[in-house]
Amino acid sequence: MNPPDYEYLRKLLKDQSGLDLSADKQYLIESRLLPLSRKCGVTGIDDLVQKMKGGSSSIVAQVVEAMTTNETFFFRDKIPFEHFRDSIMPEMLKARAARRSIRIWCAAGSTGQEPYSLAMCLKEMGASLAGWRIDIIATDLSQEVLEKSKSGIYSQFEVQRGHPFQLLVKYFKQNGELWQINPDIRAMVQHRQLNLLHDFSQLGAFDVIFCRNVLIYFDQETKISIFGRLAKAMEPDGFLVLGAAETVVGLTDVFKPFPDKRGLYRPSGPRATTAQAAMAMPKIAAMAGR
Ligand SMILES: C[S@@+](CC[C@H](N)C(=O)[O-])C[C@H]1O[C@@H](n2cnc3c(N)ncnc32)[C@H](O)[C@@H]1O
Repeated sequence: MNPPDYEYLRKLLKDQSGLDLSADKQYLIESRLLPLSRKCGVTGIDDLVQKMKGGSSSIVAQVVEAMTTNETFFFRDKIPFEHFRDSIMPEMLKARAARRSIRIWCAAGSTGQEPYSLAMCLKEMGASLAGWRIDIIATDLSQEVLEKSKSGIYSQFEVQRGHPFQLLVKYFKQNGELWQINPDIRAMVQHRQLNLLHDFSQLGAFDVIFCRNVLIYFDQETKISIFGRLAKAMEPDGFLVLGAAETVVGLTDVFKPFPDKRGLYRPSGPRATTAQAAMAMPKIAAMAGR
């Protein structure tokens, strides 16, 4: 790939999806875009670039999609789901007892393993959620992964990665080599295409946001902007869950980490620093220690 084409693609990807590629990632672009150029019937990346420069928005969208990393698996990293079950949900059930509704957002839900893991956790809570309305909204930049997520169909390999066997047999139906998640779990998750670089205030306020393993691809300025907007999209006593390699520390103080809960954060805005929110932190720590 020639250097001007590489620079063109780097800038385009940064502008369109936030992906921040260093100067030496030609191999990554080649490994993802050569198959795409064949699929589009062009001879190579230079032709693909020419088409994009010629204004083909469809090729731009396909290039952006092809460059996303969609790696995910059920109950990825385990601990966030333990936080969800043992700390976040018990706290939320108390805090939302009057309105009996909880809104959860998976901000980069990929092919669905993360939102469906949350849905299975909720299903496992059984009667304690009777009469509650729980919304799980899964969003992603990539329409392709959202389609797969909506289908709820996974390969044997995908369901074996991280998935407890008893939940697999309980919540999936096997069809030959494939497994489909049961309709009642699928119905718990709503899907929407959403680019985190764009305004997401129309989604409303959330009690819990899982935004995991996507910010690692962005530069600091983009992360800071997204954290600022996530804080505004969150109830003051809500919870933000980040991936194992992500943190707000050193970037922004709009969220505060729970000292003993890796990956778990709470907004630190004016409403969140009320006595109620300040008391919630030690309380949740105690709960998880049971
Ligand atoms: C590595 S996956 C993480 C999936 C899941 N959250 C997890 O931790 O297992 C990252 C996802 O972020 C999505 N993504 C990348 N850039 C995005 C953007 N600007 N806005 C929304 N989603 C984006 C990708 O399409 C991909 O599905």
